Amino acid sequence: MKITQNYSRIIAGTMTWGSWGKNLSTAEIDKLIHHCLNVGITTFDHADIYGGYTNEAMFGAAFANSGVSRENLQLITKCGIQYVCDAREAKIGHYQYNKEYIIESVHQSLKNLKTDYIDFLLLHRPSPLMHPLEISEAIYQLKSQGKIIDFGVSNFTPSQIQMIETVVPVAGNQVEFSLTQNTVMYDGTLDDCITNKRMAMAWSSLGSYFKETNEQTKRIKDSLNQLTKKYNATEDQLLLAWVLKHPANVHPVVGTATPERIAASVNALDIKLELEDWFVLLKASQGHPVP
Ligand SMILES: NC(=O)c1ccc[n+]([C@@H]2O[C@H](COP(=O)([O-])OP(=O)(O)OC[C@H]3O[C@@H](n4cnc5c(N)ncnc54)[C@H](OP(=O)(O)O)[C@@H]3O)[C@@H](O)[C@H]2O)c1
Repeated sequence: MKITQNYSRIIAGTMTWGSWGKNLSTAEIDKLIHHCLNVGITTFDHADIYGGYTNEAMFGAAFANSGVSRENLQLITKCGIQYVCDAREAKIGHYQYNKEYIIESVHQSLKNLKTDYIDFLLLHRPSPLMHPLEISEAIYQLKSQGKIIDFGVSNFTPSQIQMIETVVPVAGNQVEFSLTQNTVMYDGTLDDCITNKRMAMAWSSLGSYFKETNEQTKRIKDSLNQLTKKYNATEDQLLLAWVLKHPANVHPVVGTATPERIAASVNALDIKLELEDWFVLLKASQGHPVP
């Protein structure tokens, strides 16, 4: 493994904890941090842009009050998206990966999260204009100063990672992966994680199942109905078990802010989905059996 920190297999995604979702108060975030730690989730996924650049600071304020020691949790955050909102002067959404910008973004995240170091810094999305040397200079400087521990990417293709890796090691890739959106199983992205011992993380690991009703989700529902009894598990747990069975040792970044669902996601780790059941669900997703 290229990572040096000990990340929990299930990661808490914080995207909807603030103004992009639940609008949790500082006290509620504090409670949710403790709840995650109590059920065994020690890793929290952030990005500078969440909540229009406001989430990190809300989490930081709650963390500072929580009494939780810094070494008992791991913080992932991301940089590189210039998102159009009140907090920024960008006139159009774009990506920025010059050395000074990356360094400045990390300094801001450290300040917001009220911490001395980021465990895992990810480049949020690949930019057609990124150059590996600009990126590596920033990453080596931040690493040598102890401001970031691990460095990785998000939504990158294997060839984009290969380009970055000519100058700096890439320890992980956070990508969209679920039963309903599983392109990364076929385009080399998860193969690359296995081959190069990169930590694979899955965002939207429940896919569109709870968000849409269409032919695909109806087929999946029928198959899940047959399996919930067999495994004594809920639909969301089986969807996670499907992701967890992939040999890339995928770490789902779960987006729910509901305490019971967060706890249930950890229990999905105990489900050992049988090989044929995994393919029953794949067939339901595809609408046809494997050739
Ligand atoms: N790297 C990237 O580009 C990227 C992109 C998007 C997201 N992310 C990260 O990934 C995390 C998860 O993304 P996501 O929110 O799309 O993921 P998700 O875990 O697939 O979806 C969670 C959402 O489903 C809802 N939901 C409805 N019924 C549910 C059930 N029975 N069980 C569980 N959840 C249910 C949850 O609502 P409740 O909260 O009401 O339970 C929540 O809004 C984000 O928080 C963020 O950290 C990264």
